[in-house]
Amino acid sequence: MELLIEKIKNEGIVLSSSVLKVDSFLNHQVDPQLMLEIGKEFAERFAHCGITKILTIESSGIAPAVMTGLQLNVPVVFARKRKSLTLVNNLITASVYSFTKEETSEISVSNQYISENDKVLIIDDFLANGRASLGLADIASKAKASIAGIGIVIEKGFQDGGSLLRDKGYRVESLAIIDSLNDGLVSFEQQTTETKVELTR
Ligand code: G4P
Repeated sequence: MELLIEKIKNEGIVLSSSVLKVDSFLNHQVDPQLMLEIGKEFAERFAHCGITKILTIESSGIAPAVMTGLQLNVPVVFARKRKSLTLVNNLITASVYSFTKEETSEISVSNQYISENDKVLIIDDFLANGRASLGLADIASKAKASIAGIGIVIEKGFQDGGSLLRDKGYRVESLAIIDSLNDGLVSFEQQTTETKVELTR
């Protein structure tokens, strides 16, 4: 998605050879106009799939998920990472290991909001090792819902999450795929144009 790639080129900060900071539009401050375009793009890619619900995980998945739900006119459910005061009964849970944080957390969704009648589109901001998406897929499976696919805003193609999910048979649609972050450079997987930019900030 050209608009997103431009945004990453202009505002992304390479923190290391494996981490890209995009706090100015996705992970802290949110660019609503860009999120709207992202929602339109996911809605277009997953049109005619019979999606009844978007499933994401707090916190950074929520903005792109809501915009996608708006376009597809379906509700958006976000898995919680922390225990909620009001969400205590009838929880569907899954364990998610984070390689970044080196810890396992339990994510949960109420069984009120996802059921066997649902066809779910999973949305997340980043795809690194794929554990968050797998956890969401696990929750959808436990609810006996079907999974139409997984929409990712930024996939780090040099980490194994993409192949892990695709090898399991999931349709994964990523709007920007990063080939590498070596030497402070962001290389994007060839989509419409070859792009290699130096991010110096
Ligand atoms: P995985 O789900 O693909 O296995 O990824 P991992 O556990 O490694 O990622 C843990 C957190 O770090 C997730 O956010 C994920 O989105 C984020 N993350 C992974 N790689 C990058 C990166 O290169 N840049 C940025 N900006 N984030 C990355 P989280 O902790 O759940 O945060 P949030 O959703 O609450 O913002």
